[in-house]
Amino acid sequence: MPTPSPDSIRTAFRLRFGEDPTVVVRAPGRVNLIGEHTDYSGLPVLPIAIDRALLIAAGPGPEGMVEAASGAFEGDAALDRQHPNAGVSAPWHRYLAGALTEITAAAPGTGARILVDGDLPGEGGLSSSSALTCGLLEALNHAWAAGLDREAIVQRAIVAERHVGVETGGMDQEVIVFAEAGTALRIDFDPPARRAVPLPPGLALVVAYSGEAAPKGTSARDSYNERVVGARIAAAMLADSVGLDIGAPPRLCEVADVDVVDILVDELPERMSPQEAAHGAGVELERLVQLTADRFDTRTKVPVKRLARHILAEAVRVDEAEAALRANDLAAFGRLLNESHNSLREDFRCSTPALDRICAAMRKAGAFGARLTGAGFGGFAVAACAPASVAAVIAAAEAATGGPAFEVRASGGLSLL
Ligand code: GLA
Repeated sequence: MPTPSPDSIRTAFRLRFGEDPTVVVRAPGRVNLIGEHTDYSGLPVLPIAIDRALLIAAGPGPEGMVEAASGAFEGDAALDRQHPNAGVSAPWHRYLAGALTEITAAAPGTGARILVDGDLPGEGGLSSSSALTCGLLEALNHAWAAGLDREAIVQRAIVAERHVGVETGGMDQEVIVFAEAGTALRIDFDPPARRAVPLPPGLALVVAYSGEAAPKGTSARDSYNERVVGARIAAAMLADSVGLDIGAPPRLCEVADVDVVDILVDELPERMSPQEAAHGAGVELERLVQLTADRFDTRTKVPVKRLARHILAEAVRVDEAEAALRANDLAAFGRLLNESHNSLREDFRCSTPALDRICAAMRKAGAFGARLTGAGFGGFAVAACAPASVAAVIAAAEAATGGPAFEVRASGGLSLL
Protein backbone atom coordinates (compact mmCIF):
# COMPACT_ATOMS: atom_id res chain seq x y z
CA MET A 1 0.00 0.00 0.00
CA PRO A 2 1.70 3.28 -1.03
CA THR A 3 1.80 6.02 1.61
CA PRO A 4 -0.64 8.74 0.52
CA SER A 5 0.79 12.25 0.73
CA PRO A 6 -1.13 15.24 2.12
CA ASP A 7 -1.27 16.56 -1.47
CA SER A 8 -2.64 13.32 -2.85
CA ILE A 9 -5.44 13.17 -0.27
CA ARG A 10 -6.29 16.86 -0.93
CA THR A 11 -6.50 16.08 -4.66
CA ALA A 12 -8.60 12.98 -4.05
CA PHE A 13 -10.91 15.00 -1.79
CA ARG A 14 -11.34 17.67 -4.48
CA LEU A 15 -12.07 15.05 -7.13
CA ARG A 16 -14.56 13.34 -4.90
CA PHE A 17 -16.38 16.31 -3.33
CA GLY A 18 -15.65 19.18 -5.74
CA GLU A 19 -13.89 21.42 -3.20
CA ASP A 20 -10.79 21.53 -1.03
CA PRO A 21 -10.76 20.06 2.49
CA THR A 22 -10.36 22.56 5.32
CA VAL A 23 -8.21 20.18 7.39
CA VAL A 24 -6.02 17.10 6.91
CA VAL A 25 -5.07 15.05 9.98
CA ARG A 26 -2.45 12.30 10.27
CA ALA A 27 -3.33 9.59 12.81
CA PRO A 28 -0.58 6.98 13.21
CA GLY A 29 -0.96 3.30 14.01
CA ARG A 30 0.63 1.90 17.14
CA VAL A 31 2.81 -1.04 18.04
CA ASN A 32 2.81 -2.01 21.67
CA LEU A 33 6.35 -3.01 22.68
CA ILE A 34 5.31 -4.55 26.00
CA GLY A 35 2.50 -4.31 28.57
CA GLU A 36 -0.16 -6.36 26.81
CA HIS A 37 -3.65 -6.59 28.28
CA THR A 38 -2.56 -4.49 31.25
CA ASP A 39 -4.19 -1.13 30.43
CA TYR A 40 -7.77 -2.00 31.42
CA SER A 41 -6.39 -3.20 34.75
CA GLY A 42 -4.89 0.26 35.28
CA LEU A 43 -1.36 -1.15 34.85
CA PRO A 44 1.34 0.34 32.60
CA VAL A 45 2.09 -0.09 28.90
CA LEU A 46 5.01 0.80 26.63
CA PRO A 47 3.84 1.37 23.03
CA ILE A 48 5.12 3.45 20.09
CA ALA A 49 3.23 5.26 17.36
CA ILE A 50 4.46 4.09 13.95
CA ASP A 51 5.28 5.55 10.56
CA ARG A 52 2.17 3.98 9.04
CA ALA A 53 -0.91 6.10 9.43
CA LEU A 54 -4.37 7.09 8.31
CA LEU A 55 -4.83 10.49 6.70
CA ILE A 56 -8.21 12.07 7.26
CA ALA A 57 -9.33 15.08 5.21
CA ALA A 58 -12.49 16.97 6.17
CA GLY A 59 -14.49 19.95 5.00
CA PRO A 60 -17.99 21.36 5.31
CA GLY A 61 -20.95 19.27 4.16
CA PRO A 62 -24.72 19.38 3.89
CA GLU A 63 -26.48 20.58 7.08
CA GLY A 64 -26.83 17.80 9.66
CA MET A 65 -25.15 15.14 7.49
CA VAL A 66 -21.72 13.53 7.40
CA GLU A 67 -20.66 11.99 4.10
CA ALA A 68 -17.52 9.88 4.22
CA ALA A 69 -15.50 7.84 1.76
CA SER A 70 -12.27 5.91 2.11
CA GLY A 71 -9.45 4.50 0.07
CA ALA A 72 -8.47 2.41 3.11
CA PHE A 73 -11.82 0.90 4.12
CA GLU A 74 -14.71 -0.46 1.99
CA GLY A 75 -18.01 1.35 1.62
CA ASP A 76 -19.09 5.01 1.54
CA ALA A 77 -21.11 6.46 4.42
CA ALA A 78 -23.87 9.06 4.66
CA LEU A 79 -24.77 9.46 8.33
CA ASP A 80 -27.43 11.71 9.78
CA ARG A 81 -25.92 13.49 12.79
CA GLN A 82 -29.07 13.01 14.84
CA HIS A 83 -29.11 9.23 14.27
CA PRO A 84 -25.60 8.26 13.14
CA ASN A 85 -26.01 4.55 13.88
CA ALA A 86 -29.04 4.24 11.61
CA GLY A 87 -26.89 4.79 8.49
CA VAL A 88 -24.10 2.34 9.35
CA SER A 89 -23.55 -0.15 6.51
CA ALA A 90 -19.85 -1.09 6.78
CA PRO A 91 -17.67 -1.95 9.82
CA TRP A 92 -15.66 1.29 9.74
CA HIS A 93 -18.87 3.38 9.79
CA ARG A 94 -19.39 2.28 13.39
CA TYR A 95 -16.26 4.16 14.44
CA LEU A 96 -17.48 7.20 12.51
CA ALA A 97 -20.87 6.93 14.21
CA GLY A 98 -19.15 6.58 17.60
CA ALA A 99 -17.01 9.65 16.92
CA LEU A 100 -20.08 11.64 15.84
CA THR A 101 -21.96 10.66 18.97
CA GLU A 102 -19.02 11.85 21.06
CA ILE A 103 -18.50 15.19 19.32
CA THR A 104 -22.12 16.22 18.86
CA ALA A 105 -22.49 18.00 22.20
CA ALA A 106 -19.34 20.06 21.50
CA ALA A 107 -20.34 20.91 17.91
CA PRO A 108 -24.04 20.58 17.17
CA GLY A 109 -25.61 21.10 13.76
CA THR A 110 -23.30 21.46 10.83
CA GLY A 111 -22.37 18.76 8.36
CA ALA A 112 -19.07 17.47 7.05
CA ARG A 113 -17.47 15.62 4.19
CA ILE A 114 -14.65 13.25 5.05
CA LEU A 115 -12.10 11.25 3.09
CA VAL A 116 -9.94 8.63 4.80
CA ASP A 117 -6.86 7.05 3.23
CA GLY A 118 -3.66 5.55 4.51
CA ASP A 119 -1.11 2.78 4.61
CA LEU A 120 -2.06 1.30 7.97
CA PRO A 121 -3.20 -2.32 7.67
CA GLY A 122 -6.65 -2.85 9.20
CA GLU A 123 -6.39 -6.53 10.12
CA GLY A 124 -5.88 -6.06 13.84
CA GLY A 125 -2.83 -5.47 16.01
CA LEU A 126 -1.70 -2.07 14.69
CA SER A 127 -4.68 -0.14 16.02
CA SER A 128 -6.21 1.10 12.80
CA SER A 129 -9.57 1.42 14.57
CA SER A 130 -8.24 3.77 17.25
CA ALA A 131 -6.24 5.72 14.63
CA LEU A 132 -9.49 6.11 12.71
CA THR A 133 -11.49 7.20 15.75
CA CYS A 134 -8.85 9.66 17.03
CA GLY A 135 -8.23 11.02 13.53
CA LEU A 136 -11.95 11.50 12.80
CA LEU A 137 -12.47 13.31 16.10
CA GLU A 138 -9.51 15.62 15.50
CA ALA A 139 -10.54 16.33 11.89
CA LEU A 140 -14.13 17.16 12.93
CA ASN A 141 -12.80 19.13 15.91
CA HIS A 142 -11.02 21.43 13.46
CA ALA A 143 -13.65 21.40 10.71
CA TRP A 144 -16.33 22.40 13.24
CA ALA A 145 -14.11 24.53 15.54
CA ALA A 146 -15.29 22.42 18.49
CA GLY A 147 -12.36 23.50 20.66
CA LEU A 148 -11.49 20.06 22.08
CA ASP A 149 -7.98 19.75 23.48
CA ARG A 150 -5.85 16.63 23.07
CA GLU A 151 -6.86 15.12 26.41
CA ALA A 152 -10.51 15.51 25.38
CA ILE A 153 -9.81 13.83 22.03
CA VAL A 154 -8.32 10.83 23.89
CA GLN A 155 -11.23 10.56 26.32
CA ARG A 156 -13.89 10.90 23.63
CA ALA A 157 -12.09 8.41 21.37
CA ILE A 158 -12.11 5.86 24.20
CA VAL A 159 -15.84 6.33 24.75
CA ALA A 160 -16.48 6.29 20.97
CA GLU A 161 -14.93 2.81 20.81
CA ARG A 162 -17.10 1.69 23.69
CA HIS A 163 -20.10 2.50 21.48
CA VAL A 164 -18.66 -0.13 19.12
CA GLY A 165 -18.77 -2.55 22.04
CA VAL A 166 -15.08 -2.79 22.93
CA GLU A 167 -14.14 -2.06 26.55
CA THR A 168 -10.77 -0.74 25.42
CA GLY A 169 -8.30 0.28 28.11
CA GLY A 170 -7.00 3.55 26.62
CA MET A 171 -3.44 2.66 25.57
CA ASP A 172 -4.08 2.99 21.83
CA GLN A 173 -5.74 6.39 21.97
CA GLU A 174 -3.11 7.86 24.31
CA VAL A 175 -0.13 6.81 22.24
CA ILE A 176 -1.79 7.72 18.93
CA VAL A 177 -2.40 11.23 20.25
CA PHE A 178 0.65 11.86 22.44
CA ALA A 179 3.60 9.87 20.99
CA GLU A 180 6.87 11.62 20.22
CA ALA A 181 9.10 10.54 17.30
CA GLY A 182 12.04 8.30 18.17
CA THR A 183 10.61 7.33 21.56
CA ALA A 184 8.29 4.83 23.15
CA LEU A 185 5.61 6.17 25.47
CA ARG A 186 5.42 4.75 28.97
CA ILE A 187 1.81 5.23 30.01
CA ASP A 188 0.54 4.83 33.56
CA PHE A 189 -3.16 4.90 34.27
CA ASP A 190 -3.32 4.97 38.05
CA PRO A 191 -2.40 7.70 38.70
CA PRO A 192 -2.35 8.87 35.05
CA ALA A 193 1.13 9.77 33.75
CA ARG A 194 3.13 9.61 30.53
CA ARG A 195 6.84 9.75 29.85
CA ALA A 196 8.86 9.35 26.67
CA VAL A 197 11.42 6.53 26.65
CA PRO A 198 14.13 7.11 24.01
CA LEU A 199 14.77 4.11 21.76
CA PRO A 200 18.46 3.15 21.45
CA PRO A 201 19.93 3.56 17.93
CA GLY A 202 20.87 -0.13 17.88
CA LEU A 203 17.22 -1.17 18.12
CA ALA A 204 15.18 -1.84 14.99
CA LEU A 205 11.56 -2.99 15.08
CA VAL A 206 9.88 -5.31 12.60
CA VAL A 207 6.19 -6.19 12.54
CA ALA A 208 4.82 -9.26 10.81
CA TYR A 209 1.28 -10.25 9.92
CA SER A 210 0.10 -13.64 11.10
CA GLY A 211 -2.24 -14.07 8.13
CA GLU A 212 -5.21 -14.09 10.53
CA ALA A 213 -7.37 -10.98 10.68
CA ALA A 214 -8.49 -10.12 14.21
CA PRO A 215 -10.04 -6.65 14.19
CA LYS A 216 -11.06 -5.90 17.75
CA GLY A 217 -14.38 -4.36 16.70
CA THR A 218 -15.64 -7.64 15.20
CA SER A 219 -14.12 -11.12 15.38
CA ALA A 220 -11.82 -10.51 18.37
CA ARG A 221 -14.35 -8.48 20.34
CA ASP A 222 -15.96 -11.19 22.43
CA SER A 223 -12.66 -12.86 23.32
CA TYR A 224 -11.30 -9.45 24.32
CA ASN A 225 -14.29 -8.45 26.43
CA GLU A 226 -14.39 -11.85 28.14
CA ARG A 227 -10.83 -11.25 29.36
CA VAL A 228 -11.65 -7.74 30.53
CA VAL A 229 -14.41 -9.23 32.66
CA GLY A 230 -12.10 -12.02 33.91
CA ALA A 231 -9.53 -9.43 35.01
CA ARG A 232 -12.22 -7.51 36.89
CA ILE A 233 -13.39 -10.67 38.63
CA ALA A 234 -9.81 -11.39 39.70
CA ALA A 235 -9.44 -7.86 41.05
CA ALA A 236 -12.72 -8.04 42.95
CA MET A 237 -11.86 -11.45 44.47
CA LEU A 238 -8.33 -10.37 45.46
CA ALA A 239 -9.57 -7.11 46.98
CA ASP A 240 -12.20 -9.00 48.90
CA SER A 241 -9.66 -11.45 50.29
CA VAL A 242 -7.54 -8.62 51.76
CA GLY A 243 -10.52 -6.49 52.80
CA LEU A 244 -9.90 -3.65 50.31
CA ASP A 245 -12.77 -1.51 49.13
CA ILE A 246 -12.40 -1.52 45.36
CA GLY A 247 -13.42 0.98 42.66
CA ALA A 248 -15.82 0.61 39.77
CA PRO A 249 -14.93 -1.26 37.67
CA PRO A 250 -12.52 -3.30 39.83
CA ARG A 251 -8.96 -3.12 38.46
CA LEU A 252 -5.92 -5.22 39.31
CA CYS A 253 -3.78 -2.08 39.83
CA GLU A 254 -5.56 -1.68 43.15
CA VAL A 255 -4.16 -4.95 44.48
CA ALA A 256 -0.89 -5.18 42.49
CA ASP A 257 1.18 -3.90 45.44
CA VAL A 258 -0.35 -6.14 48.11
CA ASP A 259 2.69 -8.05 49.38
CA VAL A 260 1.10 -11.50 49.29
CA VAL A 261 -0.58 -10.98 45.93
CA ASP A 262 1.31 -13.87 44.27
CA ILE A 263 0.05 -16.32 46.87
CA LEU A 264 -3.48 -14.95 46.64
CA VAL A 265 -3.47 -15.23 42.84
CA ASP A 266 -2.66 -18.93 43.14
CA GLU A 267 -5.76 -19.32 45.28
CA LEU A 268 -8.08 -17.73 42.71
CA PRO A 269 -10.48 -20.04 40.86
CA GLU A 270 -9.49 -21.10 37.34
CA ARG A 271 -12.84 -19.94 35.99
CA MET A 272 -15.74 -18.09 37.49
CA SER A 273 -18.87 -16.34 36.25
CA PRO A 274 -19.57 -12.66 36.93
CA GLN A 275 -22.66 -13.76 38.88
CA GLU A 276 -20.65 -16.02 41.17
CA ALA A 277 -18.02 -13.32 41.65
CA ALA A 278 -20.58 -10.62 42.42
CA HIS A 279 -22.03 -12.88 45.06
CA GLY A 280 -18.68 -14.15 46.38
CA ALA A 281 -16.87 -10.80 46.56
CA GLY A 282 -19.93 -8.72 47.44
CA VAL A 283 -19.65 -6.37 44.42
CA GLU A 284 -22.43 -5.23 42.13
CA LEU A 285 -22.70 -7.34 39.00
CA GLU A 286 -22.90 -4.18 36.90
CA ARG A 287 -19.39 -3.19 38.05
CA LEU A 288 -17.99 -6.42 36.64
CA VAL A 289 -19.66 -6.41 33.25
CA GLN A 290 -20.34 -2.70 32.55
CA LEU A 291 -20.83 -2.13 28.82
CA THR A 292 -20.46 -5.78 27.93
CA ALA A 293 -23.65 -6.51 29.86
CA ASP A 294 -25.99 -6.74 26.88
CA ARG A 295 -23.71 -9.12 24.96
CA PHE A 296 -22.59 -11.20 27.86
CA ASP A 297 -24.39 -13.97 29.70
CA THR A 298 -23.35 -13.21 33.27
CA ARG A 299 -23.58 -16.90 34.13
CA THR A 300 -20.74 -17.72 31.71
CA LYS A 301 -17.60 -18.82 33.49
CA VAL A 302 -14.56 -16.89 32.27
CA PRO A 303 -10.87 -17.53 33.01
CA VAL A 304 -9.68 -15.76 36.17
CA LYS A 305 -6.48 -17.10 37.76
CA ARG A 306 -4.40 -17.34 34.57
CA LEU A 307 -5.42 -13.88 33.44
CA ALA A 308 -4.43 -12.31 36.74
CA ARG A 309 -1.11 -14.16 36.71
CA HIS A 310 -0.31 -12.80 33.25
CA ILE A 311 -1.41 -9.24 33.93
CA LEU A 312 0.45 -8.82 37.23
CA ALA A 313 3.68 -10.32 35.84
CA GLU A 314 3.37 -8.30 32.62
CA ALA A 315 3.18 -5.05 34.60
CA VAL A 316 6.53 -5.89 36.24
CA ARG A 317 7.99 -6.63 32.80
CA VAL A 318 7.01 -3.13 31.63
CA ASP A 319 9.21 -1.62 34.37
CA GLU A 320 12.03 -3.99 33.49
CA ALA A 321 11.71 -3.30 29.76
CA GLU A 322 11.80 0.45 30.29
CA ALA A 323 14.95 0.03 32.41
CA ALA A 324 16.52 -2.23 29.75
CA LEU A 325 15.88 0.38 27.02
CA ARG A 326 17.30 3.17 29.16
CA ALA A 327 20.39 1.02 29.84
CA ASN A 328 20.65 0.07 26.14
CA ASP A 329 20.50 -3.60 27.19
CA LEU A 330 18.80 -4.97 24.09
CA ALA A 331 19.42 -8.62 25.00
CA ALA A 332 17.46 -8.10 28.23
CA PHE A 333 14.76 -6.18 26.34
CA GLY A 334 14.42 -9.07 23.88
CA ARG A 335 14.18 -11.65 26.67
CA LEU A 336 11.33 -9.67 28.19
CA LEU A 337 9.49 -9.64 24.86
CA ASN A 338 9.86 -13.43 24.68
CA GLU A 339 8.62 -13.84 28.26
CA SER A 340 5.66 -11.61 27.48
CA HIS A 341 4.76 -13.73 24.46
CA ASN A 342 5.06 -16.97 26.43
CA SER A 343 2.80 -15.58 29.14
CA LEU A 344 0.25 -14.38 26.55
CA ARG A 345 0.31 -17.84 25.00
CA GLU A 346 0.26 -19.99 28.15
CA ASP A 347 -1.66 -17.91 30.67
CA PHE A 348 -3.58 -15.26 28.80
CA ARG A 349 -4.28 -17.55 25.83
CA CYS A 350 -4.59 -14.90 23.15
CA SER A 351 -1.86 -16.21 20.86
CA THR A 352 -2.40 -18.46 17.86
CA PRO A 353 -0.18 -21.11 16.24
CA ALA A 354 0.60 -18.66 13.40
CA LEU A 355 1.70 -15.94 15.87
CA ASP A 356 3.83 -18.50 17.76
CA ARG A 357 5.41 -19.67 14.51
CA ILE A 358 6.18 -16.17 13.32
CA CYS A 359 7.78 -15.18 16.66
CA ALA A 360 9.91 -18.34 16.67
CA ALA A 361 11.01 -17.68 13.07
CA MET A 362 12.00 -14.07 13.82
CA ARG A 363 13.99 -15.11 16.92
CA LYS A 364 15.78 -17.79 14.91
CA ALA A 365 16.65 -15.17 12.27
CA GLY A 366 18.53 -13.18 14.92
CA ALA A 367 15.92 -11.01 16.66
CA PHE A 368 16.64 -10.17 20.31
CA GLY A 369 13.04 -11.13 21.02
CA ALA A 370 9.55 -11.25 19.55
CA ARG A 371 5.97 -11.25 20.74
CA LEU A 372 2.44 -10.78 19.54
CA THR A 373 1.38 -7.14 19.71
CA GLY A 374 -2.06 -5.70 20.39
CA ALA A 375 -5.02 -7.73 21.54
CA GLY A 376 -3.84 -10.96 19.84
CA PHE A 377 -6.15 -13.72 18.51
CA GLY A 378 -4.38 -13.08 15.17
CA GLY A 379 -3.13 -9.79 13.82
CA PHE A 380 0.55 -8.83 14.10
CA ALA A 381 3.72 -9.78 15.97
CA VAL A 382 6.63 -7.44 16.70
CA ALA A 383 10.34 -8.28 16.83
CA ALA A 384 13.19 -6.26 18.29
CA CYS A 385 16.42 -6.73 16.36
CA ALA A 386 19.68 -5.07 15.33
CA PRO A 387 19.41 -2.83 12.24
CA ALA A 388 21.69 -5.28 10.41
CA SER A 389 19.22 -8.14 11.02
CA VAL A 390 16.12 -6.40 9.69
CA ALA A 391 16.22 -7.97 6.23
CA ALA A 392 16.75 -11.50 7.61
CA VAL A 393 13.99 -11.08 10.21
CA ILE A 394 11.54 -9.83 7.58
CA ALA A 395 12.42 -12.71 5.25
CA ALA A 396 11.98 -15.28 8.04
CA ALA A 397 8.62 -13.84 9.09
CA GLU A 398 7.33 -13.80 5.52
CA ALA A 399 8.52 -17.37 4.98
CA ALA A 400 6.72 -18.46 8.17
CA THR A 401 3.25 -17.13 7.36
CA GLY A 402 3.30 -15.41 3.99
CA GLY A 403 3.59 -11.94 5.49
CA PRO A 404 3.61 -9.07 4.96
CA ALA A 405 6.39 -8.05 7.37
CA PHE A 406 8.03 -4.63 7.46
CA GLU A 407 10.20 -2.38 9.59
CA VAL A 408 8.42 0.29 11.65
CA ARG A 409 9.89 3.48 13.12
CA ALA A 410 8.66 5.33 16.18
CA SER A 411 6.77 8.36 14.89
CA GLY A 412 5.03 11.35 16.42
CA GLY A 413 1.35 11.31 17.39
CA LEU A 414 -1.72 12.93 15.86
CA SER A 415 -0.84 15.96 13.72
CA LEU A 416 -2.38 18.47 11.36
CA LEU A 417 -0.80 18.42 7.90
C1 GLA B 1 -6.48 -3.61 22.29
C2 GLA B 1 -7.10 -2.52 23.16
C3 GLA B 1 -6.06 -1.90 24.09
C4 GLA B 1 -5.30 -2.98 24.87
C5 GLA B 1 -4.79 -4.07 23.92
C6 GLA B 1 -4.17 -5.21 24.66
O1 GLA B 1 -5.58 -3.06 21.40
O2 GLA B 1 -7.64 -1.52 22.36
O3 GLA B 1 -6.70 -0.98 24.96
O4 GLA B 1 -6.12 -3.52 25.87
O5 GLA B 1 -5.83 -4.58 23.11
O6 GLA B 1 -3.03 -4.81 25.35
